[in-house]
Amino acid sequence: MKKLMAVVAMTTLVAAPVLAAEDGATLYAAKTCAACHGPNGTKTLMPDYPKIAGQNAKYLEKQMLDIKSGARANGNSAAMKGVMPLVSDEQIKVLADYISKLKP
Ligand code: HEC
Repeated sequence: MKKLMAVVAMTTLVAAPVLAAEDGATLYAAKTCAACHGPNGTKTLMPDYPKIAGQNAKYLEKQMLDIKSGARANGNSAAMKGVMPLVSDEQIKVLADYISKLKP
């Protein structure tokens, strides 16, 4: 029993930082991204919304930062801009990395 408690305590210690550093998949689901870009970044809500899976991470990050700041305000940027206040620049970086690794 004592051993089990020790294992539980250790697992908690190890798991905590992992949960704190948010992972891309969790963010992608939690921040409503999937609603417009599809659960895997390949299926869009509207035909004129972009498929984003597998795109270059740096490009994805830049586009999100530009839409957030208003530097990019073309086509349907307004639809996307409404979501950008939900994510920090750090979370955008994590999301860009995650999306770039999705299979197109
Ligand atoms: C309400 C619908 C909607 C939601 C929710 C949404 N997006 Fe978008 N997103 C769009 C649209 C529409 C565009 C294209 C904007 C344009 O035409 O300029 C876009 C553009 C993008 C782009 C740039 C794609 C490119 O090829 O330039 C990225 C990256 C992106 N979204 C990621 C995300 C992420 C990550 C989330 C969640 C935090 C998210 N989006 C949530 C609608 C949405």
